[in-house]
Amino acid sequence: MNKSISGFSKLNKQQKINWLMENFAQDPTVAAQDFETWQHPEPRIQRILDGLAENAVANYVLPYCIAPNFLINGRMYAVPMVIEESSVVAAASSAAKFWAERGGFHAQVIDTVKLGQVHFRWAGQTDRLQGWFPMLRSQLLADAADLTANMERRGGGIRTVELLDYTHLELHYYQIRVSFETCDSMGANFINSVLERFARSLEDFLMNYPGLSDLERDVEVVMAILSNFTPDCRVRAWGECTIDSFAGPARELGMEPHTLADRFATAVRIANIDPYRATTHNKGIFNGIDAVVLATGNDFRAIEACGHAYASRGGHYHSLSRCKVSDGVFRFELEIPLALGTVGGLTALHPLAKYSLELLGHPSARELMCIVACAGLAQNFAAVRSLVTTGIQQGHMKMHLTNILHHLGASDEEAAAAQFHFSKQTVSFSAVRTYLEASKVNN
Ligand code: MEV
Repeated sequence: MNKSISGFSKLNKQQKINWLMENFAQDPTVAAQDFETWQHPEPRIQRILDGLAENAVANYVLPYCIAPNFLINGRMYAVPMVIEESSVVAAASSAAKFWAERGGFHAQVIDTVKLGQVHFRWAGQTDRLQGWFPMLRSQLLADAADLTANMERRGGGIRTVELLDYTHLELHYYQIRVSFETCDSMGANFINSVLERFARSLEDFLMNYPGLSDLERDVEVVMAILSNFTPDCRVRAWGECTIDSFAGPARELGMEPHTLADRFATAVRIANIDPYRATTHNKGIFNGIDAVVLATGNDFRAIEACGHAYASRGGHYHSLSRCKVSDGVFRFELEIPLALGTVGGLTALHPLAKYSLELLGHPSARELMCIVACAGLAQNFAAVRSLVTTGIQQGHMKMHLTNILHHLGASDEEAAAAQFHFSKQTVSFSAVRTYLEASKVNN
């Protein structure tokens, strides 16, 4: 059977679902009913969600969770997190509480520069192009003035425009690199519009500038697009406390406080040395970061891509966090680029993204950078603390037990008994199944 279709996007939603069910579902009637349950009951909200992406046929729901007790720069936040991994929010909350009792997290925005590029090919002599560049720059800025006026009124706009010569790497390849300040917006649309305007201005400039040869009038714009690598749109977050203040939690875990601090710092150094460990270590950081980025309607793919590129600067992939233990003081720090927005885009559209920002007190983009970095730091702290003490499975499997019990259809009573039983036993899928079967036989 030919299961291809042309004009799928022209069908209405019900027609799309019908076509999908007829062609791909095992039981079309049951599947159609299932899809129906994944529509939002309020038509106004469903219309918003349908409008977010092409060919939407249902909503894919993830838990919207809260990690309370995040004390950041002296202000207490309850941080919204959208995440499917069972132990992440518990870990973030526990780390937040730990640090709230030790002065809280601190965070500082280093800068907020965003970047974009016009990539083009031009076969003339580099020094001639460089000679015209000051004039070209003025024309680019003048031609984009209508696009930048609004952003300038808000305190942002274009910061710098540079010509970069890459002809030693690729024949005739140059780049106009532009830096932007986009205030509280992530700024992707603004940046891309300016860059596309720049591309046209570049062509016009070379076409009209007096005295150019035919070869010099020829320019081929390859593409104009923002760069998601924004190393200078960066924030530093840290927690600092005396090692003695670890004593309680360390001894509960059967360790001396300085042993815990030292082993923790060693684990972070290992993530700096070894990319295999660094990848997992940074994944833990992004467990926290992505969840808040998603909850606030920001672009988690952009944030991840940038974070991993930043972790590879200098040609070696390493840990995004650092730990220093000296003179009886433990300092744990994360420095990460985060190009975030709190106005425009999904932040204004998605009903829960709007609520997230409300719960966070309508933060500026800079404040959100601080909150998100602290969520990443908290997550990393919790993960490494577990790894160097109890191991990760204890907390993880405790949370995962709930999923297993759901999967095996345990009643509330059976689940409660299983939770009690497995508080002292190792959790695995087969162990839980055996336990439930045995308890059914015994009852
Ligand atoms: C699991 O999602 C994340 C961790 O593997 C992170 C880490 O190993 O640091 C626990």
